[in-house]
Amino acid sequence: MPNQTQQGRPAEVSADAQVARIFEWRRGFNAMHLIDLGIGLGLFRSLAEAPDVPAGELAGRLGLHAPYVETWCTTAYGFGLLDADEERRFRLAPFVGEILGNPAHPRYLGGYVRLGTRFATEDFRFAADAFRTGQTAPFQGRSPEFAQVVAQAIAGVNLMVARKILPGLPGVADQLNAGGTLLEVGCGTGNLQLQLAKAFPQARCTGVDIDPTGLAAAREAVRRAGLADRVEIVEGTVGAAAPKAAFDVVLMVEVLHEIAPDVRPGVVRECAAALKPGGWMVIVDETYPSTLAETRQPEFSFPLQTGLEELMWGNVVPTREEQERLLREAGLSGRVDRALIGAGFTLLTTQKPS
Ligand SMILES: C[S@@+](CC[C@H](N)C(=O)[O-])C[C@H]1O[C@@H](n2cnc3c(N)ncnc32)[C@H](O)[C@@H]1O
Repeated sequence: MPNQTQQGRPAEVSADAQVARIFEWRRGFNAMHLIDLGIGLGLFRSLAEAPDVPAGELAGRLGLHAPYVETWCTTAYGFGLLDADEERRFRLAPFVGEILGNPAHPRYLGGYVRLGTRFATEDFRFAADAFRTGQTAPFQGRSPEFAQVVAQAIAGVNLMVARKILPGLPGVADQLNAGGTLLEVGCGTGNLQLQLAKAFPQARCTGVDIDPTGLAAAREAVRRAGLADRVEIVEGTVGAAAPKAAFDVVLMVEVLHEIAPDVRPGVVRECAAALKPGGWMVIVDETYPSTLAETRQPEFSFPLQTGLEELMWGNVVPTREEQERLLREAGLSGRVDRALIGAGFTLLTTQKPS
């Protein structure tokens, strides 16, 4: 037994500590469902708009059953999501409004919570059969609601990519500021396309995806934003949809691990082919632990969970060795810069040889 403290587990393991961890995770399950209810029923939104309200009045505003809302408020207070005064008038605890009450805020986590409560819960229900058969329920062709919840779950990462990460990569930002071309692979509902077009007003962006489910929403969002002259949304594989040697930047955000493992090398090859010589390949994705020791390190906590949660989607989160092999075998033989960003994402950047 290693002596150092490992993630989620004290160095000295007692039976009581193991029991306490299970109770804490069970509490987390209830917390997720309490939040899901709070979002779905409009409780967070209503408290954000008009705080300092007794539970009965909150129930009245939303047409809900008062005793249930009383229990919801009491539990949310106990969980530290609400504050209250001596008269039991409730308000949101600090930052909860932006994290759970405002879908437009960069810190909003409602989509991530609901991806678990709505969709992962269903997948885990079908997991016992899938473990016997190896069957999958892939991302593609699920439902527009699923595509929207996924988009919401990664909206914060998209914002970080468009506003901080790409502007902080000199080679990439220079190209885009000078009217360069960007191909986003796996653009889904087009959220990142809009953010990129705003962050780089001179650049021309193309989004490609094999799944038509999100693309209708993407086209509509581009049209409504008045960006149709600079942003194009295309359905199909990279090879079919993207001309060769046409792009200064090829970007994938939370997509590499979503590409079916059997076609993954081919897709990365097509991405490399779509790049101009000297162009940049930028990948933001999760990196699966390469060893058992890494599974207990904090930086791998998020990808470890994704590996389980998305198992039934047919997704396999690549290790760093696989990421680097994919790039090398696609002919991207230059230096690969690797950085950890946010809570468990990896940024990979490499330049296509001239
Ligand atoms: C996590 S989602 C990203 C969604 C999108 N970026 C958004 O913000 O809505 C991953 C996307 O990768 C797409 N994808 C998977 N394999 C692909 C492939 N071979 N070529 C293009 N897109 C692919 C999926 O269809 C899905 O839309």
